[in-house]
Amino acid sequence: MAKIKNIISRQILNSKGEPTIETTVILEDGAYGTASVPTGASKGSFEAKELRDNNSNVYQGLGVLNAISNIQTEVLPAITGMEAEHQQDIDRKMIELDGTADKSRLGANAILSVSMAVSKAAAKSFSLPLFLHLKQFIRSSEANIKIPTPLFNEINGGMHSQSGSMDFQEFLVIPASSMSFSQGLEMSTKIYSSLKKLLLNNNLSTLIADEGGFSPKLGSNQDALVLLKQAVEAISLRLGFDVFFGMDIAANKIFADGKYHIKDKSGDLSSDNLIDFYETLNNDYHFLYLEDGLNENDWEGWSKLCTRLSEQTLIVGDDLTVTNPQRLQAAISKKAITGIIVKPNQIGTVIESLAVIQMAKQAGIKVTVSHRSGETNDDFIADFAVAASADYCKFGAPQRGERIAKYNRLLQIEQQIKSL
Ligand code: PGA
Ligand code: ZN
Repeated sequence: MAKIKNIISRQILNSKGEPTIETTVILEDGAYGTASVPTGASKGSFEAKELRDNNSNVYQGLGVLNAISNIQTEVLPAITGMEAEHQQDIDRKMIELDGTADKSRLGANAILSVSMAVSKAAAKSFSLPLFLHLKQFIRSSEANIKIPTPLFNEINGGMHSQSGSMDFQEFLVIPASSMSFSQGLEMSTKIYSSLKKLLLNNNLSTLIADEGGFSPKLGSNQDALVLLKQAVEAISLRLGFDVFFGMDIAANKIFADGKYHIKDKSGDLSSDNLIDFYETLNNDYHFLYLEDGLNENDWEGWSKLCTRLSEQTLIVGDDLTVTNPQRLQAAISKKAITGIIVKPNQIGTVIESLAVIQMAKQAGIKVTVSHRSGETNDDFIADFAVAASADYCKFGAPQRGERIAKYNRLLQIEQQIKSL
């Protein structure tokens, strides 16, 4: 048992050179935890709000000095003296202190940085690995601790890439569940190298995008799948056996004026037209995973998408559900999803994120724990995903330090859990 003694926060940079918050929570026994928060680019409009200064003199308005000041002037006095292991009480205290539904007063970024740092400090104080400490805050029917199946980003489009590349945001490869995490990770790097060779042979760019995937300028989204399949086959891997494909469409960004627009098809597309297209692609590629296939407000479309494709592929909400219990409940009632992405910074505290996971699991919804496109080297999310017994984890390409930090942490956990 150790009480919170002090909190120190600072403005640091994320992987895109934008300011973010890093917070250190110090306990009376000398243990401390440091955590930093990520930032999304293709955000859902119902996410909790990160507070930015909007002062054009500081990092073009992106500074987080006001959020940091809120930690010092409001959060510190409110939670000093609380037991660090009482994560529920601390998170609740911060939610009440903020007083808004979307954490826009103190900033979800401010609150989450403290919430994560508290859990790290408490784990340190108990000399426990973070995933074991966090595990106590979620009820799980699974007795064994396991590493979630990774979804590796190989090709980036949409808002995460250079302009002129694909509209779909992420082309993912998923190792067969029979593989260990380390085997899957190695396979993802082989596919990545094979893809790089293929791009070079085709005089296509091998520059990488925000989450580490390649972002060549291709004629269509389908071209990306063709390339990825070639890359897999060139190293004698069997699609649908050793490796599976998934996509994050991030469809908010292909939606305007009530219609969808993609490079593969000319003119305006209705949700039905777009679902037809997914169905055609699915006949060729047998997706295991389809995230944000439709716009965040297209509930009717989502229910149809689920009716038509959920037998064959996981239908996953991200911007649709934004790690929010009310949005998740709506998606369950409308039979709109079979999977959900969970990103702690979409809701703003560790405990609320775990509660959403528990709710999803109880409804038979598969859970993917995910990074954001703007990340730091903090590997909290790796422990969090293991603690939550997530089905999948999505931490980007097997490339770029801030993505590798999470995969390397999973390698450590994989080794640690063998001796538990
Ligand atoms: P973001 O995108 O982190 O840029 O919001 C990630 C995703 O859509 O999964
Ligand atoms: Zn997404």
